[in-house]
Amino acid sequence: MQIDIFDSPDILAQLTARKIIDMVSRKPNALLCLAGGETPRLTYQYIVEGAKNNGIDFSLVQFVSLDEWVGIPASNKGSCYYFLHETIFEPLAIKQTNIHFFNSTAGNLSAECERINQIIQNLGGIDLMLVGIGMNGHIGFNEPGISPYLFAHVIELDIITQQVGQKYFSEITPLQKGISLGMAQFMQSGMVILLATGNKKAPIIKKALEENVSAAVPAGFIQEHTNAFVLLDSEAAGLLS
Ligand code: F6R
Repeated sequence: MQIDIFDSPDILAQLTARKIIDMVSRKPNALLCLAGGETPRLTYQYIVEGAKNNGIDFSLVQFVSLDEWVGIPASNKGSCYYFLHETIFEPLAIKQTNIHFFNSTAGNLSAECERINQIIQNLGGIDLMLVGIGMNGHIGFNEPGISPYLFAHVIELDIITQQVGQKYFSEITPLQKGISLGMAQFMQSGMVILLATGNKKAPIIKKALEENVSAAVPAGFIQEHTNAFVLLDSEAAGLLS
């Protein structure tokens, strides 16, 4: 695991965008899994800019969902899909056939998990997964206590996730369950990048990176990944020894 600390979220975003563009330059049909949430917003802006300015072709890149709020349709501005549509898919004109997202309003969510697991397998596995970290240490919706061996699954969301998640919605929205890739898929990804910015992430970053690995802080499993990058701004890194 390599930890890099940047003076500002802006420099961090530029560097992260470069890593993703490099991946696409090396492997034009890469399978990417990109998190929603506030942290990567600027990175996505730089990916779009970088791809356009340098003529990087994203037409063969495949995208798979990291997670989604159960019962929240893709058309809802608070959904993970909507966020990625706005920030990446639409600006880069990604074809719908290259986007593989959980349908979190499907009647049979177990079948939905199986469908996404199968797509990942058929596409040869995830080349690069970019994740944020929840205030409780989650990755995707792998909440504290989760088994590290799970693939896609439906999960009862931690109370912290239910509360913090309200920030993505314009009105109070019940967020009891999530559908998410599992830690097994995180650990099997060819490269993983964990981003964190801001003072509020400093305590959980310290736990994830400096405490013994355990399911209590799922993001801590990144310590055991063989090709992992943790990219932090100086505030998020503020409590590291
Ligand atoms: C979102 C996701 C979540 C977020 C995490 C941090 O798709 O998977 O795990 O990455 O909750 O969210 P922000 O970036 O909003 O602090």
